[in-house]
Amino acid sequence: MNDTNKADVLLGLQWGDEGKGKIVDVLTPHYKMVARFQGGPNAGHTLVFEDKKYILHTIPSGIFHKGCLNVVGNGVVLDPFIINKELDQLNIPDEELQESLFVCGKAHLILPSHRLMDAAIENKKGKLKIGSTLKGIGPAYTDKVARTGLRLSDTATPEFDEKYDRLKQEHLRIAKDLGYDLRELVLDGLPFDDYEKAWFSGLERLKALPRIQSEVFVNEALDKGARVLAEGAQGTLLDIDFGSYPYVTSSNTITAGACVGLGVAPSRIGEVFGVFKAYCTRVGSGPFPTEILDADGDRLRDEGHEYGSTTGRPRRCGWLDLPALKYAVMINGVSRLIMTKADVLNSMEKIRVCVAYKVDGESHDVVPLSAGQQDMEPIYEELRGWNRPLDDIHTFEALPQELLDYVAVIEDFVKVPVDIISVGADRKEILIRKGAGILQRLSVV
Ligand code: IMP
Repeated sequence: MNDTNKADVLLGLQWGDEGKGKIVDVLTPHYKMVARFQGGPNAGHTLVFEDKKYILHTIPSGIFHKGCLNVVGNGVVLDPFIINKELDQLNIPDEELQESLFVCGKAHLILPSHRLMDAAIENKKGKLKIGSTLKGIGPAYTDKVARTGLRLSDTATPEFDEKYDRLKQEHLRIAKDLGYDLRELVLDGLPFDDYEKAWFSGLERLKALPRIQSEVFVNEALDKGARVLAEGAQGTLLDIDFGSYPYVTSSNTITAGACVGLGVAPSRIGEVFGVFKAYCTRVGSGPFPTEILDADGDRLRDEGHEYGSTTGRPRRCGWLDLPALKYAVMINGVSRLIMTKADVLNSMEKIRVCVAYKVDGESHDVVPLSAGQQDMEPIYEELRGWNRPLDDIHTFEALPQELLDYVAVIEDFVKVPVDIISVGADRKEILIRKGAGILQRLSVV
């Protein structure tokens, strides 16, 4: 047994959409196993290579690398309809999937009626709605915690049909009580009954994938010395406990989530790679102190193609928020930082970065405790932009001085090094700092 071998974690430090998919894709060749530990089809991890774009919702981003074992852990919620569509898009033969994609029997199912509940609950909230992706995430986790949910392993029991029907009837009853008209419901372009049929055929495909207990599978791989990367979804500021509650998702998106969502002890976590965008975005409702509501915000949205990969919704855009980043680094124990989408700021003459907030006339350089409720006015430092394209730059060290200065301000504030900067959507548009710790970890010096 190799008990010094530890799993690394990669996760988002903002409100999701930090570009994690691309970074996992770049790191995967150095790992034997990539494991998702929370969330579900609310995620949309975009990978671009060979001029093609792929969006993964539930399947780990290691799926395109031959020999990589991809694990969907117990903490994930599974929608068979969406997984089926995702598998079709991958175009990987089923025999290959048998050797590369492993799903934990303890993972909970998102029923078609969970999606109905999501819509009914959001609808009822009116102006206070969360801005959910409406993929049934909240209701599926609610049933998990209420001990009324269905796990993938339940599908093998004779009582499955009965349990499914009982839960569905309960959901339909609640939705009706909430005044939701079922006849109006269309899920992914299909009326409820058709969607449910397609869901069940997706379930057959999901059942045919190799079934594991993620805690045993991952720990045994670690014992044998395999390199394991846990891939987070959404972002730290959407965490159910530490995000801006109630405008959050329903899972723990932080490093600790990797422990409970895979069954790995905290002492077996190694490096924590924190991914953040060079600016901020948020999709859905909730506080966003550095949001830019003028033309600069529109410019960031256009240049950064800031539209949801799962829902297509325009993302709210804003300046980098350093106190929030520092908070996320603390909660996750981040050891290395990875900055993405630096190129989106290429045409900005001035770049602002939030270094504190003014709350009730007082300045705070940490996120105020009741951040969900208060009006916070950001206090900015203004930096000179690099104001030039980065296409001709092939090393981290050759980046324009203004961009290196920006990195230095970030590092000075959060006290963790930025090892990697991503400067475009393609796998190849990535700059790793010379001698960076991440290179030693990956043994590629
Ligand atoms: P839910 O997880 O679909 O219930 O959505 C709850 C909140 O999290 C909403 O504001 C969503 O927009 C946001 N959200 C959920 N998943 C993602 C993601 O993968 N990226 C960005 N935002 C997300």
